[in-house]
Amino acid sequence: MEWSHVRAPQWPGTISNEAAKRQVGEQVASRAADGEVIGIGSGSTSFLALLALADRVHGEGLAVTCVPTSHEIAGYCTALGLTTVSLLAGRPDWCFDGADEVDPGQNLIKGRGGAFVREKLVFAAARQRFILVDESKFVARLGERFAVPLEVIPEAVNLVRDTLADTLGVLPTIRPAGGKDGGVITEQGGIVMDLPVTEAVLEAHPPTDLAVLLDHTVGITGSGLFAGFDLEVLSDS
Ligand code: A5P
Repeated sequence: MEWSHVRAPQWPGTISNEAAKRQVGEQVASRAADGEVIGIGSGSTSFLALLALADRVHGEGLAVTCVPTSHEIAGYCTALGLTTVSLLAGRPDWCFDGADEVDPGQNLIKGRGGAFVREKLVFAAARQRFILVDESKFVARLGERFAVPLEVIPEAVNLVRDTLADTLGVLPTIRPAGGKDGGVITEQGGIVMDLPVTEAVLEAHPPTDLAVLLDHTVGITGSGLFAGFDLEVLSDS
């Protein structure tokens, strides 16, 4: 099908700071080169970057292969006529993704959209990583605005709540779903719990330690705390 006949997919709802997100999306899309495998993050900033990437692919005849991080972004890739493969088939040369918070040490909270486990898989697999943010995402301390999301095996929600209450002194809560009763269920069939990260928690457990502690908590399959990764932050500021 002719690219000019493809109708660009729409983001459902309003995109906050859209002009800034669009600008940073165009910045990262300008890095794409022929033959690359690119990890595609989830969320509105990644969506705008994907639109810019699709423009280059179709406008310049670039051949790129996308590794999507969620069903949602995979759907947008195919709607835009882009080739997708799973992580089983291709290790990304580089990837891009958004974030909810970025601290001065470039540690991140991700996962407002609930896709953080697959996002972390693609992020870890990529040889180079770009985080796309507008100014509103920079914080002095993680946890200022967002909780750390956890993906939890459904049967383990009480176990995880009690374990983290004992080890960290804070209680994670099940994130309520929109459009159904009960909690948000991830693509892997896990339940999303949100863990408030207070100043006291971070004093006792700096981000890299906290990420390890969460990864080692029985019942948690992954967290939206991205700490200690080698990455480049791209912003409009
Ligand atoms: C998706 O699960 C998230 O990790 C997003 O990358 C993060 O919430 C940023 O979202 P926006 O790009 O929509 O601000």
